[in-house]
Amino acid sequence: MNSLFIVFHVILLASSVHLTNAASYEYFKLALVWPATFTRIHASGMTKPKIPNYFTIHGLWPTNFSSPWPQSCAEKPADYFKRSSIDTLQNGLNHYWPNLKSAETNMELWIEEWEKHGTCSLQKFNQSEYFRQAISITEFLDILVVFKNVGIIPHRTKTYSLIDIVNAIKETKTRQVEPELVCFQDRSDVLLREIRVCLDANLAEYISCPINRSKGVILCKTKSNAIKIPV
Ligand SMILES: *[C@@H]1O[C@H](CO)[C@@H](O)[C@H](O)[C@H]1NC(C)=O
Ligand SMILES: *[C@@H]1O[C@H](CO)[C@@H](O)[C@H](O)[C@H]1NC(C)=O
Ligand SMILES: *[C@@H]1O[C@H](CO)[C@@H](O)[C@H](O)[C@H]1NC(C)=O
Repeated sequence: MNSLFIVFHVILLASSVHLTNAASYEYFKLALVWPATFTRIHASGMTKPKIPNYFTIHGLWPTNFSSPWPQSCAEKPADYFKRSSIDTLQNGLNHYWPNLKSAETNMELWIEEWEKHGTCSLQKFNQSEYFRQAISITEFLDILVVFKNVGIIPHRTKTYSLIDIVNAIKETKTRQVEPELVCFQDRSDVLLREIRVCLDANLAEYISCPINRSKGVILCKTKSNAIKIPV
């Protein structure tokens, strides 16, 4: 009797915890990748031979200020990726959200990102709205053009200081909030790998990324004065 009650209670508890996780996140992080660094990270042949020379989307992640973060929140078949939901967005997605890996299609990346991340903000953003927002924020930020305006040009040998890069990003439409920068150490070179900007849970306002609490990413070193944005 007692043990039956406990089992029942545990099941109830487990399912309610699951529902809460699936339903909630605190803010969004938009991760933009610099394709030329991506190709340096992956072995030759693993990335597409022709890659974009602008920042592309890695993902738009509903997340929490401290771990754990919500992930893979689909609860019913209807929550999974539907090709029809992005029919009208294909051009924008192919441009801004390509899969840089040679062995995979763009669609495979979108499916993966939707199922792992997009499903966690499903109550606020349905699938087409989620992808539309990701494209529109990326387009609006126009980071490479803002970089060019302040003389930060991707280059084979030139380097830039972290502070100059961060300041340039703050000149974009994010209006002075702190971005998160991820670098990749390639022998003696520090390469800019990703720029991440943070937004509130409604994608209405930019907020500073909680950089100090990030785990599992190699952030660009605070004192780094020689970051390359390779071509
Ligand atoms: C994320 O944060 C929300 C709101 O604080 C919380 O309800 C949810 O359980 C958290 N997600 C995970 C996976 O811990
Ligand atoms: C998705 O959300 C958008 C914006 O809220 C809305 O206009 C659209 O009708 C929704 N699409 C579906 C299939 O529910
Ligand atoms: C992050 O850490 C640095 C040094 O450890 C500190 O100066 C800075 O204020 C911190 N930033 C935030 C947002 O907590």
